[in-house]
Amino acid sequence: MLTTRQPIFRKFWHAVMPLSQLAEGPKPFTLLGENIVLFLDEHGQPAALKDRCCHRTARLSKGWCPDGALKGRLQCGYHGWAYDRSGRVVHIPQYGADKPIPADYCTPAYHCTARYGYAWVALENPIADIPSVPEFEAPGWRTIFQFHETWDTSPMRALENSFDNSHFSFVHRATFGVADQPRPSRYELVDTDEGFHAETVIAAANPERFRAVSGVDDAVTTRHMRNAYFLPFSRRLDIEYPSPDGVRPGRRHVIINCFTPIDDGRIQLCQWLFRNDTEADCPAQALIDFDAEITREDKDILESTDPDAVVDTRRRGVEFSMDSDRPGMLIRKKLMELLARHGESEVHRGSLQPSPAASAAPVIPIRAAG
Ligand code: FES
Ligand SMILES: [Fe+2]
Repeated sequence: MLTTRQPIFRKFWHAVMPLSQLAEGPKPFTLLGENIVLFLDEHGQPAALKDRCCHRTARLSKGWCPDGALKGRLQCGYHGWAYDRSGRVVHIPQYGADKPIPADYCTPAYHCTARYGYAWVALENPIADIPSVPEFEAPGWRTIFQFHETWDTSPMRALENSFDNSHFSFVHRATFGVADQPRPSRYELVDTDEGFHAETVIAAANPERFRAVSGVDDAVTTRHMRNAYFLPFSRRLDIEYPSPDGVRPGRRHVIINCFTPIDDGRIQLCQWLFRNDTEADCPAQALIDFDAEITREDKDILESTDPDAVVDTRRRGVEFSMDSDRPGMLIRKKLMELLARHGESEVHRGSLQPSPAASAAPVIPIRAAG
């Protein structure tokens, strides 16, 4: 599937960038192939516009957000035209105060809101809410911003990987994977309105250096995994380690991922972590380092895969599957149902190629001499 060719994804909220980055000034981002600029408005709320000035097309992300009378506006770095969050030009420095600015002097604006410390953008009217994350800044939970980085892969590849428990013994053999237990545990899958829940218990290597993370002293422990998929490109993974003494609760390691589509070959990995323990139990930096090591292993192998993943499983013979790919197949089913509801079918490299008849060179009649 070529993500940018499926218009329905423009109608979902996507996590784009931590608000802390916008405090430094306007920032560019590419969402579903569209160049946008984000900035903070006069209320400190994130706003998103097309990254193209309507004067002479300069990138607005090369501009700045001034103080004073133009506070909360985005000023183009070329001739200084200033925009509000609706995309209207509200100030032209070359004009006198009495000269009106035509109403059609504007650049497209997108839906943009703040949630969970991030700016979220929908390129068109969103048809679904941002997934709920009850642990965010909740009592008893630590909120840790883990990763905001670009991966050379597609959301489908990142999603299927995050529900795939057949790769631990291989990709993660140097970390938590148990190399001599390649047969995966079975997932219980339950359909939801937004996607599905997938629950299983896996064995996990628990070397000395991971024990502050797991709160367990055994060399091999278990992870009770409660995984959930949210259409189109988000997931929640709630890992529960065993209670250390049968009385105290086990450590919970709750990861939220948004695999935000940049273009057809890149995603922005956004990852939050929530923990039910304290900084004294396991420092935030140790948790970031722990998950960085594991996500590096996933990134390395995913960047070797074809981002144009098969989503329509009627396309036979392109990729082959096994039983433990069930969650990945269910993601495909959910995505195909979404596309069908909105009159779309999967667009992939093959479907873009012109048919042999259309691409054939025009036939030039040859007359026999004489
Ligand atoms: S190009 Fe932006 S003000 Fe001229
Ligand atoms: Fe993995």
